[in-house]
Amino acid sequence: MTIISDLINKIPSPCFVLEEALLERNLAIFARVQQEAPVKVMLALKGFSLFHSFPILRKTLPGASASSLWEAQLAAEKFGGEVHVYSPAYRDEDLPQILPLASHLTFNSVTQWERYAPIITKSSSHPSIGLRINPEYSPVKTALYNPCVPYTRLGVLENQLGDTLPKGVEGFLCHNLCESDSYALEKTLSQIEQLFGRFLSQLKWLNLGGGHLMTRKEYDVDHAIEIIKAFHKRYPHLRLIIEPGSAIAWETGFLLSTVQDLIPTPALTNVMLDISFTAHTPDCLEMPYKPVIRGAHDPQDGEKAYCMGGSSCLAGDFIGNYAFTEDLSIGDRLIFEDMMHYTMVKTSMFNGVVHPAIGMIKKDGTFVLWRKFSYQDYCARLG
Ligand SMILES: Cc1ncc(COP(=O)(O)O)c(C=O)c1O
Repeated sequence: MTIISDLINKIPSPCFVLEEALLERNLAIFARVQQEAPVKVMLALKGFSLFHSFPILRKTLPGASASSLWEAQLAAEKFGGEVHVYSPAYRDEDLPQILPLASHLTFNSVTQWERYAPIITKSSSHPSIGLRINPEYSPVKTALYNPCVPYTRLGVLENQLGDTLPKGVEGFLCHNLCESDSYALEKTLSQIEQLFGRFLSQLKWLNLGGGHLMTRKEYDVDHAIEIIKAFHKRYPHLRLIIEPGSAIAWETGFLLSTVQDLIPTPALTNVMLDISFTAHTPDCLEMPYKPVIRGAHDPQDGEKAYCMGGSSCLAGDFIGNYAFTEDLSIGDRLIFEDMMHYTMVKTSMFNGVVHPAIGMIKKDGTFVLWRKFSYQDYCARLG
């Protein structure tokens, strides 16, 4: 195959490759949203925490959101600005360490807030306290990503709150979207007003979570700006926040891989790669979805079909089927598109499969290698 440029051939394989120009293109959209609508955008570290890129992100985003002590440390140390922390359940050991790092601290249940309120009120750190609410609406069809399924463990139901806001609570966090459009945001705002409207006048802030895919080509950014402005007009005292992860890193880079072996079968050819889907791109198997490979297409009748196989021993570590205009050969390099969000933050070293290196193609067209992994890294995770 000849679709790979000279630059790509200089990058070690496998490698997660961020593209600076594409990241800046996404950031320009969030800059516009923050300029035209009364809303602040935090980076959700759970989706993308490649800290080498934080100096680029920080030019546009005033802070980050963290879901654990370690993410809060990363936010404070490497991102700076506001640190919004929400964890489904804090641990006694972690909370005192989170306190001095957090500008905003959100609890998943009233029980958790009441458990830690005495420590927090006595502490010299005073993050603004929030509660995660369940808006009882989510457009997300995949149960794995839907926080509003019946009997969900995430967020407080309106009928659990009664008429009084728990003492000390200043904000609400609502996260119910995933790769969603502005109409889902509109419906979410209306659910919040309907179910939790009686509390809104008492709050200082409302965090509308992640899942706003504002950087997808089809996303109606003007509509989102319009509805945020209209909501703010009704509740001008409320500081509005969103904390997208996917949307920030959406289509900003790829995973480079090399063909190690080709195993023909009567129906298709298995392609053995130097990456593993279960270890490096687990969402492909969990969601599941079929990633785009540069230069490949869905096989048409009679076309040679290639099934992409990972290099772990997990039987299901494969994604099918693809076709190419030229036959694949051992040593060919393949580019899996859009592999920045929920990849590096979720990888494992399962099977000891080599972990992809991490680097960036800079705006000037040069490649910078940020990290290569070694046997020592593999051992360090285990003891
Ligand atoms: C509370 C919360 N905020 C923000 C996000 C980021 O969502 P996304 O990456 O879909 O924008 C998530 C994702 O699970 C989340 O649970």
